[in-house]
Amino acid sequence: MCGIVGYLGSRDAASLLLKGLHRLEYRGYDSAGIALVSPAGKLNVYKCCGKVSNLEEFLDGKDISGTTGIAHTRWATHGVPDNTNAHPHLSQSGRLALVHNGIIENYRILKDALTESGFSFKSDTDSEVLVNLIEYIRDSSGCDLTEAVRLALRKVIGAYAIALVETGNPDRIIAARKSSPLVIGLGKDEYFLCSDAASIIEYTNDFVYVNDEEIAILERGKQLRTVTLDNEEGHIDIRKLELSISQLEKGGYPHFMLKEIHEQPRTINDCIRGRINQATGEVSLTGVLDNMDRFLNARRIIFVACGTSWHASLIGGYLIESLCRIPVDVEYASEFRYRNPVIYKDDIVVAVSQSGETADTLAAVSLACKAGAFVFGICNAVGSSIARATDSGAYIHVGPEIGVASTKAFTGQVTVMAMMALVIGRRKGTVSNEDYDIISRGLLELPEKMKEVLKVSERIADLAKIFTYAHNFIYLGRGYNYPTALEGALKLKEISYIHAEGYPAAEMKHGAIALIDAEMPTVVIATRDHTYDKTVSNIEEIRSRGGRIIAIVEQGDDKVSRIADHCIEVPPVPECLSPIIVSVPLQLLAYYIAVYKGRDVDQPRNLAKSVTVE
Ligand code: F6R
Repeated sequence: MCGIVGYLGSRDAASLLLKGLHRLEYRGYDSAGIALVSPAGKLNVYKCCGKVSNLEEFLDGKDISGTTGIAHTRWATHGVPDNTNAHPHLSQSGRLALVHNGIIENYRILKDALTESGFSFKSDTDSEVLVNLIEYIRDSSGCDLTEAVRLALRKVIGAYAIALVETGNPDRIIAARKSSPLVIGLGKDEYFLCSDAASIIEYTNDFVYVNDEEIAILERGKQLRTVTLDNEEGHIDIRKLELSISQLEKGGYPHFMLKEIHEQPRTINDCIRGRINQATGEVSLTGVLDNMDRFLNARRIIFVACGTSWHASLIGGYLIESLCRIPVDVEYASEFRYRNPVIYKDDIVVAVSQSGETADTLAAVSLACKAGAFVFGICNAVGSSIARATDSGAYIHVGPEIGVASTKAFTGQVTVMAMMALVIGRRKGTVSNEDYDIISRGLLELPEKMKEVLKVSERIADLAKIFTYAHNFIYLGRGYNYPTALEGALKLKEISYIHAEGYPAAEMKHGAIALIDAEMPTVVIATRDHTYDKTVSNIEEIRSRGGRIIAIVEQGDDKVSRIADHCIEVPPVPECLSPIIVSVPLQLLAYYIAVYKGRDVDQPRNLAKSVTVE
């Protein structure tokens, strides 16, 4: 999704901004651009369709002088991806240049009013309307630029993160945000601006997160200042962010996705470290323990999430219901936020998000907060909007996830949910000591089991070659592994562009079984859980209709191996942790099929890593 980088200091802005744009590439985009204010105050704007490398070529021989600038990667929302719709957008006079993430919902009304006042527009974007609105307000009222930005933003309905520079002033960048991430990195006599702190981490560890409806004024030689849309001086809260650059690089792997799949033994370890006592198996999760009364008295837990995080939430729902005996609903955040849902004050809403910036999940959080529910976040990105908007939470600590298809975040989310269920279940007395021990030991053993399961990598690569031809896939699973089947299908769709559907294995015969033939491979999760025999029967049903079966089975399985075409073995783990292990071969299968099909695995078409628009 769209990305913003900005810089004001004494370094060469162009090269720093381009590097920042490269770091944002993983988020998905279709065009890129840059605005630089030269030392003499000349405003140079360059932009073009396609990759950041196209922009770099385009800049060759151009005036890219200056130590102040803003840059952008665009993921089209209003208007096709082309050179004109790319950001930055200039105001009509050419004096202001603006980059914008998000959507201005009332842009049509604003555009009509500006057109009546004599403005004309080059692009189809909502962003060009905003820069002209700012110009109109400044010129018509004679106020200064910060005030014009404030007054303009008060008229705007929607979500935005913006940065603005102007002709004649290489000493100031104005930025603002509402429901779209924006952070300011503080250096020595220099400012960095970015929609994703990880992209500027090589320059500083000191960050200020711009608050919702706040304007930040970055001025050379002056302290950072923020002002709210109500014109009140903001409070500057500097936070430390520790990340290493190596976490943002491929480390010898051909793709981030493969690196992140292989990182999982370590990321699971990072996720449980300090939370499970190696000797006693006792689990502690501060965010839950600190709010135990709320969890013990919760009328209901509602998970809200999107995509892969929603799949993890389905598993979380099974865990909480089974181990804590608390009723659970699992909601798509996008539906929940617009459905006028019944939310009780003694409900707990759990928002699950890798990026912590997903617009729909953030809106669901804000709705739940307004309704008075206690809101708990399960996020990966430290300091992200959802992490900050929730009452409490637990980070999954799997490090930056760069590949667009989520892998290590999914296994981290399920791991945190299992720990949550154990902590609550123990205090509620709903989980037996025996189950508690089995599951907490199972969690401790996960990193080693992960290493074991990754050994199937080559076998899966071979299997992927056989199935690269397929146009459709079905994924089946039961119980905890029904969401895993959905997740496996989503992975394949996202990066290979092969149509794939996930179903509860038993639901198959209520319709989808009509699709089965020799051209439609079925991936069945058939680990030895309490519905194992039923799943075996489902495999028989597919086989007798000529279907081809890839089964994920436990080591030593001899039943399924006799009837499936291909079996992938995984080590045994407690049933409720099975999705964490089973998802790995499914990630690898999707990965290798996509590679054999020549797809852009890390940046699949049309997708964005962090979906900051609705
Ligand atoms: C799929 C994927 C997406 C995200 C979804 C929510 O591989 O990555 O489906 O899971 O966009 O994103 P977060 O978890 O950042 O809220």
